[in-house]
Amino acid sequence: MTEPLKIGLAGLGTVGRGVVKIIEKNGNDIARKIGRPLKVTAVSARDRTKDRGIDISDYTWFDDPIDLAKTGDIDVFVELMGGEDGPAYEATICALERGLDVVTANKAMIAHHANELATLAESKNASFLYEAAVAGGIPIVKALKESLAGNEIHRVYGILNGTCNYMLTRMQNEGKPFDEILKEAQAEGYAEADPSFDIGGIDAAHKLALLTTLSFGTQTSFKDVYIEGIEAITLTDIMAADDLGYRIKLLGVAVKTPEGIEQRVHPALVPKSSAIGEVSGVTNCVCADGDFVGKVMLVGPGAGEGATASSIIGDIIDTAYENKGHVFTLPAKELTPYVQAPLRAHEGGYYVRLALKDLPGTFAAIATRMAEFGISLESIVQRPVADKITPVKEDEIQPASVVIITHQTTERSVSQALKAIEQDGHIAGEPNMIRIERL
Ligand SMILES: NC(=O)c1ccc[n+]([C@@H]2O[C@H](COP(=O)([O-])OP(=O)(O)OC[C@H]3O[C@@H](n4cnc5c(N)ncnc54)[C@H](OP(=O)(O)O)[C@@H]3O)[C@@H](O)[C@H]2O)c1
Repeated sequence: MTEPLKIGLAGLGTVGRGVVKIIEKNGNDIARKIGRPLKVTAVSARDRTKDRGIDISDYTWFDDPIDLAKTGDIDVFVELMGGEDGPAYEATICALERGLDVVTANKAMIAHHANELATLAESKNASFLYEAAVAGGIPIVKALKESLAGNEIHRVYGILNGTCNYMLTRMQNEGKPFDEILKEAQAEGYAEADPSFDIGGIDAAHKLALLTTLSFGTQTSFKDVYIEGIEAITLTDIMAADDLGYRIKLLGVAVKTPEGIEQRVHPALVPKSSAIGEVSGVTNCVCADGDFVGKVMLVGPGAGEGATASSIIGDIIDTAYENKGHVFTLPAKELTPYVQAPLRAHEGGYYVRLALKDLPGTFAAIATRMAEFGISLESIVQRPVADKITPVKEDEIQPASVVIITHQTTERSVSQALKAIEQDGHIAGEPNMIRIERL
């Protein structure tokens, strides 16, 4: 058997540990498959003394990951520290400058520096692989780069954040409000202590920006992703959607339009019976619409030690095959400049939840206002209040919760109608408007 492929691991946290464990357990089988053993030779993390549940005594230790990238006796540099800038970015640049192949799970770094990293890697004839950065264990990057390359992709979308899907699923199944589920998710390790990247939609937007480049061959433009998180979703919304035949999901959607690319991350109502409506818990899914293949949907674990490390190992194996493709579907120099499309008139209706001060006459007034803006209503119903919409004092009456489903209309019309309804003095709190996606 030929020389081992020497791996330098920068980061020995959840994913780094997983990589070591896979090589320990399946290393012999992997070596038989690829004709070459994988061997971790050097590692770096912050704390050398930390008990990580793995034996690192045979590996050369580096206090500084940049030293590891510059001088380690390695063939491939695996960046598993995280962070869009700082040591992860600097070490990655050093490794690529040295001509080393790089494997990373760092979506934040790639979403912010994709064009530069891809250009550098290709100029050095080095691989830069990042399967684990988009939907963890789901092999969507390879699918888009290779298996679906014969297609023109016109839309790519999915459930790209496991924390949000886990929280929305538990609210649905257990009838508990957002704050309570968030606390429990944090205690169980399904949400970070600072959950803002996940529940604010930023993590999903990082992944969507990469899917956009892979699907449409445009330069990566994270700043142009329209982002709304799940913070405003209440139990009342979840229950109302359920009664109406929908689930609420945080979706990432990228569409190629004649005016440019539309990228958006936001909560959406999807039919309960749809394939995406059935994706629950921490599971992720990614769907791509291709002109010849039709709709392809990949479902699987979007995070976690084993699943994410599985994608890292797949990429390391690719470097062993010396399968030097482009970083994205096109050479970095040929990626087309990103042109932002206006957020289009949304296809489908809208769900609107209003907290109304009192009911007599208000339904009719709302329907009239909606009609003035050309919006026809599929339904308007009063809902039991599952969670307090606005804090009320003891002697105050809790506002009534009313849910409206519109037929197809534009976001602009709904916003204008809501403004008018607000000016009429009927509303007690912020309206919540959620798009209905027909996927
Ligand atoms: N966890 C997942 O399920 C998952 C899924 C998909 C993608 N990812 C991505 O994978 C990457 C790693 O995530 P993770 O969950 O494994 O993170 P983690 O558990 O927090 O581990 C980070 C590791 O990096 C080390 N590190 C941090 N700063 C360092 C520095 N300045 N110098 C040297 N080492 C440093 C830490 O050292 P110490 O251990 O000594 O503190 C730790 O070993 C991130 O980019 C993340 O977005 C993670």
